[in-house]
Amino acid sequence: MIDISKAGTYALGGRQVKRLGYGAMQLAGPHVFGPPKDRAQAIVVLREAIASGVNHIDTSDYYGPHVTNQLIREALHPYPKDLTIVTKVGGKRGADASWLPAISPAALTSAIHDNLRNLGLEALDVVNYRIMGDVQRPSEGSVEPQFAVLAKLQRQGLIRHLGISNATSAQVREARAIAEVACVQNMYNLARRDDDALIDELAAAGTAYAPFFPLGGFAPLQSKALSDVAAKLGATPMQVALAWLLKRSPNILLIPGTASLAHLRENLAVAELALPADALAALNRVGAKGAAA
Ligand SMILES: NC(=O)c1ccc[n+]([C@@H]2O[C@H](COP(=O)([O-])OP(=O)(O)OC[C@H]3O[C@@H](n4cnc5c(N)ncnc54)[C@H](OP(=O)(O)O)[C@@H]3O)[C@@H](O)[C@H]2O)c1
Repeated sequence: MIDISKAGTYALGGRQVKRLGYGAMQLAGPHVFGPPKDRAQAIVVLREAIASGVNHIDTSDYYGPHVTNQLIREALHPYPKDLTIVTKVGGKRGADASWLPAISPAALTSAIHDNLRNLGLEALDVVNYRIMGDVQRPSEGSVEPQFAVLAKLQRQGLIRHLGISNATSAQVREARAIAEVACVQNMYNLARRDDDALIDELAAAGTAYAPFFPLGGFAPLQSKALSDVAAKLGATPMQVALAWLLKRSPNILLIPGTASLAHLRENLAVAELALPADALAALNRVGAKGAAA
């Protein structure tokens, strides 16, 4: 059996979590809108993740909506003591599966209660404020009104740690002045490296960074360099993409998403995949400024 702790650990919300975690979004079903494609399989995948040593799961109550959290509860409650569940608020789903902002104090508060109820928890380990100014990418704008609401809910004991998602460096600084920021979750992968400077800044501050879409999300990564390195190492391109992220910076926590047991196993096996210097150099060139992926 693979020992996933070989990929190391990093501080997240007062605990050391294994850098190889799991993103639960794909379990909700097609378009992240319930019902799940295979409910029984979703339960099996979640249990196998935990049995394989995963102690960091990323979710949101707006996946499904509610479906992903309900699956997590059904599969894993009562939760292992060392499990950190990270959720996010700030969005909601339209009846047509669209992604909409939900950022009034009432909406944020009710999202926290939805997460608590559906996960079966009295306090949430980590809550990211997901900025919806531009759904696709970070865009400037004050986060003070929303982060202050979440900080108040934290003081009330409903949230242990706060993070921020889809954020710029200035927004992270603004949030930090309101409450401690335990983690940042932005889009980042081998081919999308807009956050290079932010990752280094967060690493220097000891703050965890969990890239979403580590495998490219809805459009899986494709690159000749990735395929060439994978072929040379006897690995898959997705494994190489994850191994590159582990090498990129020690504060990066992986939350690859899958509803497939085979892909889960493949992703966790990255703990034992070494990237030689020449492979790393070739991969570094993929997303470097001006390079085509
Ligand atoms: N903060 C945010 O705004 C935000 C946005 C998006 C996601 N997230 C979080 O980030 C997590 C990861 O993102 P994601 O799931 O959207 O994207 P991802 O991890 O980049 O990619 C998931 C896609 O890759 C496929 N896949 C997974 N492992 C694979 C493998 N070994 N080989 C081939 N295909 C593989 C999955 O399909 P199969 O199911 O078939 O394996 C799925 O289609 C999510 O679970 C969610 O928790 C956060």
